[in-house]
Amino acid sequence: MHPSFAGVIMQKKRIKDKLSEIKSIIGVYSAKGGVGKTTVSVNLAITLAKMGHSVGLLDADIDCPNVPIFMGIDERMDISSFPLKPIEKHGIKVASTAMIVDDAKKPIIWRGALIAKMLGDFFENTAWGKLDYLIIDLPPGTSDSPLSIMQLLDMKGFILVTTPAKISAINSVRSGLMAKRLGKAVLGVVENMSGEAIGPNAKYVAETLDTTVLGSVRMRKEIAELEDSGKIPVLENQDAYKEFEGIAKQIA
Ligand SMILES: Nc1ncnc2c1ncn2[C@@H]1O[C@H](COP(=O)(O)OP(=O)(O)O)[C@@H](O)[C@H]1O
Ligand SMILES: [Mg+2]
Repeated sequence: MHPSFAGVIMQKKRIKDKLSEIKSIIGVYSAKGGVGKTTVSVNLAITLAKMGHSVGLLDADIDCPNVPIFMGIDERMDISSFPLKPIEKHGIKVASTAMIVDDAKKPIIWRGALIAKMLGDFFENTAWGKLDYLIIDLPPGTSDSPLSIMQLLDMKGFILVTTPAKISAINSVRSGLMAKRLGKAVLGVVENMSGEAIGPNAKYVAETLDTTVLGSVRMRKEIAELEDSGKIPVLENQDAYKEFEGIAKQIA
């Protein structure tokens, strides 16, 4: 066997052991950027916690790790001792590579191999303990990073985020097909930045991938404003909470 291939298999086994106390690992994904993956990850994680579940949130977007910004977390993880301990805020445990680099505002300009190594090390060395859910905020694209995540983790499946736009739907179908090709389940589709009713493009994504639309989140200027200031939409806006509660109930 090729040594690096054996290495990946062994690492996968170590990660599985480390994450064995987590009941469900769920990825939030779309190949397209800016559709609301991070928004859905953060608000879904907090909604699940408000519903009484124990929840972790892993920011797996190494290039643009935005979870700490949306959650208003400035603290760093203590890297002097392993395993790393996630930071607790709003009743959930959070880990992001932005919490371990020297300056989170500087760009990370790495080749795929290094990103894959960083992700593997991060999965292996973070102590989540017992959780009902670990929500993973994925980076966009259908190459290196999402591929590494899909290969390294045993997951319950993926939630695909799409907007009412056709271009977003096309890219969501791509994302879903990639997940399926790698043997991962597509748990459903969330339409974000929605109008009054769920649009035809989100329904098209769900039908094409043989899954359902889990719910929608309305386009609200307030959501972007809250997130810019590190505040959580579902903790500030009851209508947004209701929408996420509907989505969370279908997963739980
Ligand atoms: N439902 C919404 N209404 C208004 N703004 C939103 C909504 N969802 C996300 N946004 C904003 O859109 C931008 C992109 O969202 P983000 O969650 O970062 O997307 P992604 O993680 O897919 O790149 C952010 O500024 C975010 O605050
Ligand atoms: Mg994001």
